[in-house]
Amino acid sequence: MQLTGFKDAVALVTGAGGGMGAATAVALAAAGAKVALLDLKADGLNETLAAIQAAGGEGRAYRVDVSDRASVDEAVASAERDLGPIGLLAHAAGIFRTATALEMTAEDWNACQAVNATGVFNVTQSVARRMAERRSGRIVVVASQTTVVIRTGQGAYGASKAAAEYYAKCLGLELAPLGVRVNIVHPGVTETPIATATWGDQADAMRKGHIDGNLDRYRVPIPLRKVGRPEDVANTILFLLSDQSGHIALTDIVVDGGSALVA
Ligand SMILES: NC(=O)c1ccc[n+]([C@@H]2O[C@H](COP(=O)([O-])OP(=O)(O)OC[C@H]3O[C@@H](n4cnc5c(N)ncnc54)[C@H](O)[C@@H]3O)[C@@H](O)[C@H]2O)c1
Repeated sequence: MQLTGFKDAVALVTGAGGGMGAATAVALAAAGAKVALLDLKADGLNETLAAIQAAGGEGRAYRVDVSDRASVDEAVASAERDLGPIGLLAHAAGIFRTATALEMTAEDWNACQAVNATGVFNVTQSVARRMAERRSGRIVVVASQTTVVIRTGQGAYGASKAAAEYYAKCLGLELAPLGVRVNIVHPGVTETPIATATWGDQADAMRKGHIDGNLDRYRVPIPLRKVGRPEDVANTILFLLSDQSGHIALTDIVVDGGSALVA
């Protein structure tokens, strides 16, 4: 089955300067979409844009902090001026902080809320207002498996992702009658800079640790015996943005090699 719905469509991807967002932007461009790339990191944006253009695709980069509403609105308006009406949105921008519930700082908490929760509110509302007017649109928000299975050390991160997920689903419920589909993807551990930054020079041991699990830390193993790749998440996002998922709305897909183990 070939996924359709991308030829000449305009897609906006946040977090496009690295990891899953970059993989999603490259895949959308390869499928024929014109892609607006949003990220805080100028070098990451340049790399993704270069990859898209080298493959013959079309994209534009916008350097934006998703926690800053005014610059989000400005970038969304510029993207529509430069590329056309946005029909597809993949929101992957996010940050990770880990600390025990007792030791986490107010800065950890506020940073996660600002980027992971307010960032989703800013971007999805800004784009969805335009989609609602046009009575058409598809949105995917990247949350985290941590909202499905409670993890130690992820009180700030998980709470921000849970807030984002609730807002996105509420938005999706209100906009579904207007023809705007909203879905959520929950990655498990995936080999991208956000994860590997905490691995240091222990990458092999850390990868094995995730695969084997750790009962002392309430971590179950990964049944597929591998960590995810950014493309695993990008492929799921593309399906949820495609014509072929046309009757799927307000749902979650967990991309974690089976480790969430939820009935
Ligand atoms: N990698 C994992 O194991 C994992 C697991 C579960 C969920 N996630 C989520 O997946 C999403 C994508 O992360 P990734 O794994 O590709 O990591 P990543 O670090 O490679 O990519 C995240 C991108 O978001 C950008 N970003 C961060 N703060 C921003 C801001 N304020 N404004 C704009 N852009 C900003 C970063 O510059 C980066 O390019 C994140 O929301 C993350 O929380 C990742």
